[in-house]
Amino acid sequence: MYTQAMDTAARDGHASVSALAPTAREQRFEARIAAGEYVEPKDWMPDHYRRTLVRQISQHAHSEIVGMLPEGNWITRAPTLKRKAILLAKVQDEGGHGLYLYAAAETLGTSRDEMIEALHDGHAKYSSIFNYPTLTWADVGVIGWLVDGAAIMNQIPLCRCSYGPYARAMIRVCREESFHQRQGFDALYAMMTQGTRAQRDMVQDAVNRWWWPSLMMFGPPDGESTHSEQSMRWGIKRIGNDELRQKFIDAAVELAKVLGVDLPDPQLKWSPERGHHDHGPIDWDEFWRVVGGDGPCNRDRLAARVRAREEGAWVREAAMAHARKRAARDTAAQALAA
Ligand code: 3HC
Repeated sequence: MYTQAMDTAARDGHASVSALAPTAREQRFEARIAAGEYVEPKDWMPDHYRRTLVRQISQHAHSEIVGMLPEGNWITRAPTLKRKAILLAKVQDEGGHGLYLYAAAETLGTSRDEMIEALHDGHAKYSSIFNYPTLTWADVGVIGWLVDGAAIMNQIPLCRCSYGPYARAMIRVCREESFHQRQGFDALYAMMTQGTRAQRDMVQDAVNRWWWPSLMMFGPPDGESTHSEQSMRWGIKRIGNDELRQKFIDAAVELAKVLGVDLPDPQLKWSPERGHHDHGPIDWDEFWRVVGGDGPCNRDRLAARVRAREEGAWVREAAMAHARKRAARDTAAQALAA
């Protein structure tokens, strides 16, 4: 970019303001990022930075609302009233996270409708993890423990993301995610310590099915990550995919001991030299297949989202009509008072 500006000046024979302005703006932007300042919606930012944020934040928002589906499947079948109330609150929280995140992405100049359309026509990604089925009640607990646990590990650093609205949204999201993680662990702990043999087996089976997909949530290895390097330079991502995955594995091993479950990886072993756990190979072919639309539940998940949008159209129309009516009433009242 700097080179292009210099080339233009040389051809024109003078340094035009338009050729130099982006360079100065860009330098100012880079300096603010280097100083750890937040970038706010009205600040100048490079197009690529804006596009990267729209991509990541909208994918994140889609993950939250698609993420309501696997667990929503168990609301009517929760084993006790207490677990049902907790699960209802949790699934509602995920919907709320989606709303904060769509609102944060809208500050970058994209509309909610555009983002939803991109999800529904299959252009926009959402987290691979939500394309796996929830076969038993133990899956709900394991989603809390492992999936929300992985989400927190990945999202805490995003509270320091360089884009202000995203960073602020993440602070609230992370607080709620921490409750989600604990309720999942608590449900599993109850089954493992007070449950029957069949319930303990059910927990182990769920752990076996969710462990590897949870590790894939952190994204491809750094060497194959398209965006990591630039996103780290811009302070959008603070920690790379592999480092976060490793932190998650190290933490999960200890919690698995407390629960009394085995993690399904015979190569999982503490390495004193590295100060971390070594682990077996992750099946990246499976990851890319699921990301590409061919996971166990991709089609069902998208169909459910499209159906919800269509069936909810009357609610949106009614809310808009109500808002228009209230606004007209307020305007009339103000005119009377004046
Ligand atoms: N699922 C689907 N796609 C994934 C993915 C995953 N687990 N991990 C990476 N990808 C995609 C990327 O989107 C990118 O595709 P694109 O170029 O078409 O957008 C491609 O794979 C290459 O990956 P990169 O590492 O280059 O991508 P990023 O730099 O964006 O890193 C990320 C991926 C770590 C997931 C990052 O985007 C991120 O931190 N996002 C915010 C957090 C998020 O979205 N979490 C999703 C789970 S939310 C959740 O769990 C809710 C909880 O309440 C249940």
